[in-house]
Amino acid sequence: MSKIMEKSLNFSGTCSGARVNANGLVHVPGYLDPDAQRVLLHDIESALAAAPLFQPRMPKTGKAFSVRMSNCGGLGWVSDRDGGYRYQATHPDTGQPWPPIPEIALRAWKELAAYPFAPEACLINFYNAAAHMGLHQDRDEADLAAPVLSLSLGASCIFRVGGTQRGGKTVALELCSGDAVLLAGPARLAYHGVARIIPGTSTLLPDDGRINLTLRRVTQPSCR
Ligand code: SIN
Ligand code: FE2
Repeated sequence: MSKIMEKSLNFSGTCSGARVNANGLVHVPGYLDPDAQRVLLHDIESALAAAPLFQPRMPKTGKAFSVRMSNCGGLGWVSDRDGGYRYQATHPDTGQPWPPIPEIALRAWKELAAYPFAPEACLINFYNAAAHMGLHQDRDEADLAAPVLSLSLGASCIFRVGGTQRGGKTVALELCSGDAVLLAGPARLAYHGVARIIPGTSTLLPDDGRINLTLRRVTQPSCR
């Protein structure tokens, strides 16, 4: 896990090895080394035993997402036909509070987020080999000064990121197991999505599975 410690933030708020994409997105390839990836996966598997993956659905149409989801933290992101996109403190199927955010994910937030308050939500997206995620903005959070920090485990994917207008040009980057991505500053409201999973790129998860975690601050901190 030493790599996590080595890659500390420098004064400009970026990380050694980080690449800033044309749209302002920060990509840190290999942020988590293989040991850290295994520990984080183990923690996520424990969280999923308590808060099983659920099937999110599109507001209004009720169409099922191709990814399944769960959450860690005080708040979790959910979506269903009648209630739409929202954060809530309990699992939609079990009614139980979400499990705590894994230590490694909290440490990544401290090192990369350049934001003084703790994350409140950690969305767990599980992709099978056929899953994808359409272009969208992450805008259900009250404090858009806080970044969204993403950590990827398992199969690589083609991630697309554009500007802040729907329908604009996007660029593609490959996200691999262990990579971190920061949607912050000019890229905080960038449209982004996962075009497809790239099969045969990781053995961390069986059957070309991919897990993506996104850490988010949801509410406005009260003491500024
Ligand atoms: C998301 O935008 O919620 C997920 C992004 C990813 O899977 O990399
Ligand atoms: Fe997103």
